[in-house]
Amino acid sequence: MPQGTLTFLLSDVESSTRLWEQYQDAMAAALGRHDEIIEHLVADHHGVLVRPRGEGDSRFAVFSDATHAVHAACAIQVALSRESWPLPEPLRIRVGLHTGATDIRAGDYYGSTVNRCARLRDLAQGSQVLCSAATAGLARASLPAGARLRSLGSHRLRGLREPETVFQLVHAAFAQQGTRLEPTESALPAYVPAYPFPMPRRLVGRGAELAALKWVLARGQGSAQTVFVGAPAGTGKSTLVGTLARQASEDGVLVLAGGCFESEALIPLRPFRDALADYLLTRSADVVRAEVGDLANDLAAIVPELRHHLHLAPQAHDSQAFDQTRIFAAVHTLLRAIAQRTPVLLCLEDLHVADALTLDLIQYVTRHMRRLPIVLVATLRSDEVQPGGALAHLLTALTRDGAERIELGGLERADTALLTASLLERTPSQRFVDALFTTTEGNPLFVEQLVLALREEHGREDWHSVTEISGPTPSVIGDVLLRRFDRLTASCRDTLALIATFGHSVDHETLVALVERRSEDDRLARSELDLLTDLDEALGARVLRETAGEYAFAHALLREAVYSRLSGARRALLHARAAQTQERLAGSHSLEHAAELAHHFARSGPDPAMRAKALQYSIAAGRQAAALSSHNAALAHAQQAWRIVETTRTEVDATVRLEVLELLGEAECNVGLWSACIGSYTLVLHESPVALQRARAQRAIGRSLEQLGQPSAALAAYAAGLTELGDSLDRDSVRARLQFRYDEAFCHLLTGRFRFVQQLGQELLDGAVDLGDLSLIARANNVVASAHMWQGQFDAATEHYTAAMEAAQRNNETSFLAVVHENLGANCFYSGRMHRAESELTTAIGLYQESVSELRAVLALQILSRVWAAQGEFTKALATIARARELAAEGHDRWAAECLSAEGEINFQRGAWANASACFSGALALHEQVGHTSGIVEASVGLGTAAERAGDLPVALEHYRRAADVVAAIDPSFLTVAAKRHLGVALLRERHPEAWFSQLVRDDDVADLATVPAR
Ligand SMILES: Nc1ncnc2c1ncn2[C@@H]1O[C@H](COP(=O)(O)OP(=O)(O)O)[C@@H](O)[C@H]1O
Ligand SMILES: [Mg+2]
Repeated sequence: MPQGTLTFLLSDVESSTRLWEQYQDAMAAALGRHDEIIEHLVADHHGVLVRPRGEGDSRFAVFSDATHAVHAACAIQVALSRESWPLPEPLRIRVGLHTGATDIRAGDYYGSTVNRCARLRDLAQGSQVLCSAATAGLARASLPAGARLRSLGSHRLRGLREPETVFQLVHAAFAQQGTRLEPTESALPAYVPAYPFPMPRRLVGRGAELAALKWVLARGQGSAQTVFVGAPAGTGKSTLVGTLARQASEDGVLVLAGGCFESEALIPLRPFRDALADYLLTRSADVVRAEVGDLANDLAAIVPELRHHLHLAPQAHDSQAFDQTRIFAAVHTLLRAIAQRTPVLLCLEDLHVADALTLDLIQYVTRHMRRLPIVLVATLRSDEVQPGGALAHLLTALTRDGAERIELGGLERADTALLTASLLERTPSQRFVDALFTTTEGNPLFVEQLVLALREEHGREDWHSVTEISGPTPSVIGDVLLRRFDRLTASCRDTLALIATFGHSVDHETLVALVERRSEDDRLARSELDLLTDLDEALGARVLRETAGEYAFAHALLREAVYSRLSGARRALLHARAAQTQERLAGSHSLEHAAELAHHFARSGPDPAMRAKALQYSIAAGRQAAALSSHNAALAHAQQAWRIVETTRTEVDATVRLEVLELLGEAECNVGLWSACIGSYTLVLHESPVALQRARAQRAIGRSLEQLGQPSAALAAYAAGLTELGDSLDRDSVRARLQFRYDEAFCHLLTGRFRFVQQLGQELLDGAVDLGDLSLIARANNVVASAHMWQGQFDAATEHYTAAMEAAQRNNETSFLAVVHENLGANCFYSGRMHRAESELTTAIGLYQESVSELRAVLALQILSRVWAAQGEFTKALATIARARELAAEGHDRWAAECLSAEGEINFQRGAWANASACFSGALALHEQVGHTSGIVEASVGLGTAAERAGDLPVALEHYRRAADVVAAIDPSFLTVAAKRHLGVALLRERHPEAWFSQLVRDDDVADLATVPAR
């Protein structure tokens, strides 16, 4: 076998499938002759034929000398053109020539040279010889007599990123053929997104939808636009958006594209990562550096490959290292910079499987880009949107902001006929189309798969005779797909299984590495040429499609079908292959692919080495997700890590075990799984000897207990945590102790110990000032202010809230700044300053939207609704509370309770007593459940007033008594006054003056209350 730098010659027969179909016997004879000629001439020119006879119609030869290869190609084409074929038309072959280094492994040629040569051949037409620049350069000096080389300019080759300057070998004997390639530079587009949009031969229908999208694109030149394209799987969303993207690209719009994929590794912000990676990593490091400037580190949190592309210093794996707001801002700044230069079309596909963080970032980006020329087109399976879920919220919120929605239906009957005709390359009968239309309801994917399946099964039969489709309906489309796969060769099916396991798409180099021979009896090994044959088969059957540098499944459903029928053992084998290959290719950058590696290793079966890797990468992926505040992804990775730990108990190191438990507990806390969080951290307490770790565990347990409405248990946990910390004076310990004090203060605030909170807050403030810690200073001031507010000392409260704002602002803590504005808004509301309340709350809501997710704006919205109601603006009040309720998330009962209270208030003010009552009792139940004292008082008083208005004085009294009982146990507050006054007046009405007397608000009760607000 020749080695070193070689010239490859690859040929195949043009239109061979059709020729076989039409002239089966004659073709066999013709191909025999074809083989003889090639074999003979290759040998004559000192070449070696690698591809044996009888395997399809493509031939593969290698030459040590490029000149010999060119002479051989020329001689072959001349000989074939002179041959008289036993066919009604001449047999014509396409030839590609390329020179480069080779890699021989286990008797097969590997490496990019073979692939490039094959792609060059694919570019050729019958009777045409195309050479790469390398071959042309070497052979130019001694071309065959009568031949010359003509440059056809630079061209993109299928599946390859680097374009090729293509030369055609022109000779009088065969030169008249195949001049399809125009010698032009413009054939090379500046930048095409790698995202695998489908590209049907012909776009059928969709005129109106495409026009609507183009109109949006046109408007997008002036100001940002958002469109959602929804439809069930296979309806043609990606095809439509891909068409728009190509046309936009031609018009000079920069297209960024990425998608979400089901049953793949959980990569936070996946569509943004893909879109940005594609754009950033295809540019030189210098260009990217100039473009992203200071943002490089923040962007690398999303696109980890940027780190080695730009030679950035490695990032410490510290979950505190990133602030979500900063990362969102980095994406925004980059998009803004691009959009200021050139209009941008951002395509984000399949949001129905997006992670919550992706949805947050979409909202953030759309809210911040209003005046820029950027158009976001997002697709989703509308029948798979979970009602009340994060995507449903996003759709509502963005539609309210002016986003459009396009709902795609199936194709019309006439368009179904056109699609069928384009697939069959002949006109189908009306009855066939009718049957097809009834079965598929015009879903183009189903039409396509069904027609291809029938065509494969009926072979060359006349299509006019097919009038009925038996069996398949869209619900069993999976069966059709499987029937189609069964008709592929075993080798092609194996290759597809490998790709399906790896992911939705794979680039050529990775695929070659996946099938490289790893051992003597490696059953997955395959030569690159065989691989190319499989790929051609799969591409021809339209199971795969090719985009810049990658092979992708033609549709997610096809991938699912391939993967779903693999046995467990086979899956494990293929995942192991994917894991090991990916790890090997990533080399020292393997942590950049932690999520994918965790996914594959965890599914690689019980081998201890695999499980150890699965654990290692799951932990890393969990940390990375946590650093991005992608809590659901962090939780999933942590749960996977914990499952591994639990099932291999004896082998796992104790510190690693604890590391996993902490990761798990933190994620559970962040998604509101309070009991689970307590469980995880309790295990930490059982197992950890490290004081700081135990203290962290107590703090997390305390916070969860607080959320579960067990404030005294929470306080006990905080106390235990403080004990763990001891009285060491180093900065970290002091800071940790202050954080405990803060949590304690918050807990006491909920139980109504306002005087104590004020004292605690003051201590906290002194400590924070001593430390010079802005974050703690902001929080301490917030605590002191809240204590003042509940005691009715509204001016003092305003003063401390203002100080808290200053600290938060200096510390760049946008989300905490929002919290303080919200609290100040409440302070203004309780003290009757409605206009100021309105402006503070509006600021808070704006900051929430800007910084994190809108979900956090629930409390601000519910207070704002009360502000509107207090001013008699009931329409606004109802709209605002509806928005708040929409956002109230699971796991946050206190938020839901506040919303109900606010709604009760609004109803009360509108005179809808019964509705008010219902709301207040819902609120009361929830507040009691979470042990929120002031909430209980408010709701009880609310219930009382509603009953009183409805004329039910005894019931009212009952509620007021309950409120009075609760306030008796808490520090004096304006709530004390409200509860006692209502009870007092009611008792008076009941003619119980002596009882009324006992309820009189005593001076010492309210000594601290500066103002007593009216209700
Ligand atoms: N308008 C169309 N014209 C021709 N073929 C189409 C059209 N729409 C969809 N198809 C075909 O149907 C397949 C599925 O469409 P796709 O856009 O991937 O669906 P979706 O994104 O809605 O799941 C595509 O691969 C394409 O070949
Ligand atoms: Mg799609």
